[in-house]
Formats: sequence, structure tokens, C-alpha cells
Amino acid sequence: MADEKSWVPQSVDVSVPSAARLYDYMLGGAHNFAVDRLAGDRMEAVMPHARSAARVNRAFLGRAVRFMVDQGIRQFLDIGSGIPTVANVHEVAQEAAPECRVVYVDRDPVAVAHSELILAGNDRVRVLQADLRDPDSILNSPEARLLDFDQPIGVLMLLMLHWVPTEFDPWGLLKHYREALPSGSYLAITHFADDHDYEPVKIAAANINKAGGDQAVERSRDEIAAFFGDFELVEPGLVKFAEWRPSGPGDMSTDPAINRLAYAGVARKP
Ligand SMILES: C[S@@+](CC[C@H](N)C(=O)[O-])C[C@H]1O[C@@H](n2cnc3c(N)ncnc32)[C@H](O)[C@@H]1O
Repeated sequence: MADEKSWVPQSVDVSVPSAARLYDYMLGGAHNFAVDRLAGDRMEAVMPHARSAARVNRAFLGRAVRFMVDQGIRQFLDIGSGIPTVANVHEVAQEAAPECRVVYVDRDPVAVAHSELILAGNDRVRVLQADLRDPDSILNSPEARLLDFDQPIGVLMLLMLHWVPTEFDPWGLLKHYREALPSGSYLAITHFADDHDYEPVKIAAANINKAGGDQAVERSRDEIAAFFGDFELVEPGLVKFAEWRPSGPGDMSTDPAINRLAYAGVARKP
């Protein structure tokens, strides 16, 4: 596990937990600090299967990327990509089609610092520190020039839109991103649901919010469906994340309530 080492950018406040490092800890990664591990352990105390929720989401990521590659997608924009822990977009995509290009975007400086270290030498991958709430800083960045916006792009926003509070109009932001994409592009989203029956996660979210770090908001199925706008959801539509084309037991948690924590969908621009 990491500690306050020289690679940590000076701007990083290591005294408050961050979503990226907490998620890395839950996935068994090494890029987190004591404050993140404390938040993670607290989460696990009230929500014993928290780690498997992270894995269910990561398994969806793999299925969604492979699906997009099968549809001919060769370039990806992953916003809120987190720390490249296990089975990242570029690994899944480039294994299926080595020519795939990937731009990772995260607002967390530690996630970006790690991504840069891990991805150094891969000339088909770029990493950008930017905030989803400023679409132009992403779409007009030098890093985004790795992507050809005249060709279909696979955009992923996985377990990250619940970090964008409603006051920032995430639906208006999503419209901006959808309009920037050419026909045939895909958008994949996972988002914590407000209709799950797993009370411990509400306590866990309250604990994270109390710790003063990133704030999380659960949303309804309709609110999440609206992020896709006029894009057409592919089968099976917007479903709970473990139900989206599962390919084996490893894609699900043994606790059914965990499998219902978040909605997942993949949609195509007509
Ligand atoms: C739970 S992690 C998800 C990582 C990865 N997408 C996955 O599904 O495996 C959420 C990530 O979203 C990032 N994030 C949250 N709000 C963001 C924003 N407004 N702009 C960019 N990244 C953001 C956090 O820093 C964190 O790394």
C-alpha cells in the first residue's frame, strides 16, 4: 500500500479520502493512503460486500468494452477512469484489438499521476487530468487529439456520475458530450441506483460524505436513463449492473443485494 511518497503531487490533500483511492483500495490496489483505507474499512464494516460491488462494476466494464470492440469501436474515452488497478479499458480493448486507442480522464491528481506511471510507453493511451463538468477542457485537449472525432468512439462513465451533484446539471453536460460524438458511437454508464434494497450502502455513503471528501448521490432509473438522451440502448437495456449480459459467476456477487446496487446501460448514437 502506498504512503506519502515523493510521487504524490503537492496539490494532493492526503488527509481527506478520495473516491479514486477508496475504489482502488476496495479493488485490492496499492494506490491509497491511510485515510482512504480507514474510509474503506468503515464502509466494509457496515457493508461487508463492498469489495464485490467494485468487482461487479469492473466486470461490467470488461463486458461493455469487449461488446464495443465487437461492434467495431477502436477508440475509447473513459471519463472518471480512476486508478488503473485491474483490467483497465486499454488492457481489455487492446487484447481484443491491439490498435485500440484510449484516453483516460480523471479529476483526481493521484489517479492521474498513477495512470501516467503505469501507462508510460504505451503510445496508444493518453491520460488527462480534467473534470467532467468542463467538457471543453476534455474534448478540446491535446490528449483528446489521440481520438478521431469523425470516427465512432466508445465513451465510458462508470460509477462516476453519482459524484456529479444535480446542481451541476449532469444531464446538460451529457448532452454536450453526446453531441460531440459521431453517429455509431457508444456510451456506457453505471450509476448507483436509488431503488436498491441494501440499507448498509446508505450508511456507507453517509460516512464518506461525513469524512469531507467527494460527495455521492444515488439516482432513479428514469434519471439515469435520461443521461443517454436520444442514444438507443442495446439489449438488455438499462438494467442492474450484474444483469447486463453476464457471462459467468465471476460477473456477479454472491449477495443478490449487491448485484442491484447500480444501473448499467450501453447505448448507440443513431
Ligand atoms: C469509483 S471510481 C470509478 C473508476 C472506473 N470508472 C470504474 O468504473 O472502474 C470514480 C472515479 O470518478 C472520478 N471522478 C469523480 N468525479 C469526477 C469528475 N467530475 N470529473 C472527472 N472524474 C471524476 C473519481 O476521481 C474516481 O476516480
